[in-house]
Amino acid sequence: MKYLGCAYYPEYWGPERVATDAKLMRAAGINLTRIGEFAWARMEPADGTFTFDWLHAAVDTLGEHGIEVMLCTPTPTPPAWLTFAHPDTLLVNADGRRLDHGSRRHYCYTSETYRRFSKRIVAKLAAEFARHRNVVAWQIDNEPDLIETGICHCENCQQEFRTWLKSRYGSLAELNQRWGTGFWTVDYSDWQQVRLARANHAPSRQLDSRRFANEKLSDFVLFQSELLKQQRADWRVSTNLNGEVFTSLDYFKLFDRLDVACKDLYFDICTMDVNAMIMEQFRSFKPGQKYWVTETGAGMCGCGRPAHPGQFRAWLWSSFAHGGDAHVVFRWRTCLSGQEQELEGMLEHSGVPGHRYKAIQKAFLEMREQSAKLRDLPLPETAVAFVHDYDVAFTYQSTGIGTLVPYEKNFTALHREFYRRNVRTALVPPTADLSPYRLVVLPSLVMINPTLAERLKEFVAGGGVVFAQGQLGLRDANANYMRHRGPDQLQDLFGVLINGGMYLHSCVGVDETSASRTPFTVKLAGKLARGTAAVWLGDLEAQDCRVLLKVQEDTYAGQPAITEKKTDKGLAIYSAAAKLDDRLVGKLVDYALGKAGVAAVKGIPEHVEVIRRGTRTFVINHRAKPVQVKVAKKRLRLPAYGVAVVSGS
Ligand code: GAL
Repeated sequence: MKYLGCAYYPEYWGPERVATDAKLMRAAGINLTRIGEFAWARMEPADGTFTFDWLHAAVDTLGEHGIEVMLCTPTPTPPAWLTFAHPDTLLVNADGRRLDHGSRRHYCYTSETYRRFSKRIVAKLAAEFARHRNVVAWQIDNEPDLIETGICHCENCQQEFRTWLKSRYGSLAELNQRWGTGFWTVDYSDWQQVRLARANHAPSRQLDSRRFANEKLSDFVLFQSELLKQQRADWRVSTNLNGEVFTSLDYFKLFDRLDVACKDLYFDICTMDVNAMIMEQFRSFKPGQKYWVTETGAGMCGCGRPAHPGQFRAWLWSSFAHGGDAHVVFRWRTCLSGQEQELEGMLEHSGVPGHRYKAIQKAFLEMREQSAKLRDLPLPETAVAFVHDYDVAFTYQSTGIGTLVPYEKNFTALHREFYRRNVRTALVPPTADLSPYRLVVLPSLVMINPTLAERLKEFVAGGGVVFAQGQLGLRDANANYMRHRGPDQLQDLFGVLINGGMYLHSCVGVDETSASRTPFTVKLAGKLARGTAAVWLGDLEAQDCRVLLKVQEDTYAGQPAITEKKTDKGLAIYSAAAKLDDRLVGKLVDYALGKAGVAAVKGIPEHVEVIRRGTRTFVINHRAKPVQVKVAKKRLRLPAYGVAVVSGS
């Protein structure tokens, strides 16, 4: 792995401590520190007064110890002098309250004033630090996202939103039509009436509000990237993104214009399936390139049960095996004060290297030595692609189905069956070339991008297998249901018609209210398998397909639930339920993999990862118990959290 690192706050600990820290870092195998994302007030303590001496000194001292630096632009935390003098730089939340100083990410991403001050500090930083050879990379802002604060609703954003809508729809009449304003007659008669949506507003308005905020915040990140690149084209410029892909920014578009996909990934006890999914997703954002983990826990977040000493090592090797090229611990030392006072650093708050330092040091030193021999292995091969469309993700966040159908959970449940079989997957946008894959998964794509529809038809005609699930092609590009039957543009491909569907929960019982929905399941059965469907069931008509499973009970008893349509070479499988029980998903995944000719790795206990990369196979035991496995014709006994790298595949 190229970089083993930590997030470091020299502005907090002071210049007298840097040399001691650098020495301890070096001894722990650290060769990268990430610095400066919250340090604006120490870089520019007053308007136009810049104090970079402390930062130059810190960067130099780290360099003397062989440590490179990922410098950050400090825009998540504007200084108090700035926001007090220019309140228009502050984000206004959905209730109309202007956020105030003392937290982070409280800026407005469309404010011209904020952009002007950001431009000045970023350009200054870039110019000042271009001469340091050990500044090798940049992180823009910190976790740019709308999760912490929500969308900004200030008057500038409202005006910009109207401009954005005008260029998208041309006229108010078209806007009314596209947003479907006829219900509750929320028709607009003057552009001034059009404002960003709040939670109780129509889905189409919410969806466009999210699209707009996504574009504007992404633009705020990319404008900083350009400033940095103007200074030095060889810097690796990126930003650290938060969470899985189900957030408020289109990561495909963002990373397309950044140098490396960076992810803050807090491995936790019992979340390995989700971690593996996230690593595969981040590996997909820059196809063929390695990703960086720009933050990972030194201890437990939220002060949970401490990780087993071997667990950090297992997570580190898992990241390396999936294609990680940097592993940066958050953070170097537990802080004495501040909102995250309880968050455990590598060093104790006393500055003493304790258990966490020792566990990380051991893992880092081993990784440094071992990975040097493994660096040139090809990335894991993927024959399975999950299509991810941000318009769909934003639609789930904007509509009632987002709460009724937990899109992320269903996506994760589907992905888990591939993880369990050690089948690696890629995440692709709806416009992707599908020809490198043998199986394509559509996880509840409520709207179908026309390019995707074309690509899927070509893919199946060429012998590919498609496996689609849940609400498929039922909405238009504005999140409105369509007048015709689904799956939009794909009726022939799947040989089915979806008339609509029903949600599977009860809120009409005598002792129930709509506030307490009780989920229930419906039995499905067929020759292939039997099981249950939950959450949502499609009202499906089989046309030109074979019915694999039928509904056994309730309103839709006897109706097809899971179908397949064979063409000359390819196959299109559709499961008309948003959620199936795990066993049934497993059966369908096995079936689809078999039809696609993709081999699963059999006989491996759950949470033991087997990752093939060229001539080597990585085996990582995430379990608290020893396991025995047979991999690459070898019998292995791995201790709890043990790791092995074996020759052969
Ligand atoms: C990240 C963030 C860090 C820190 C960390 C704590 O999301 O970037 O600054 O807050 O979480 O878990």
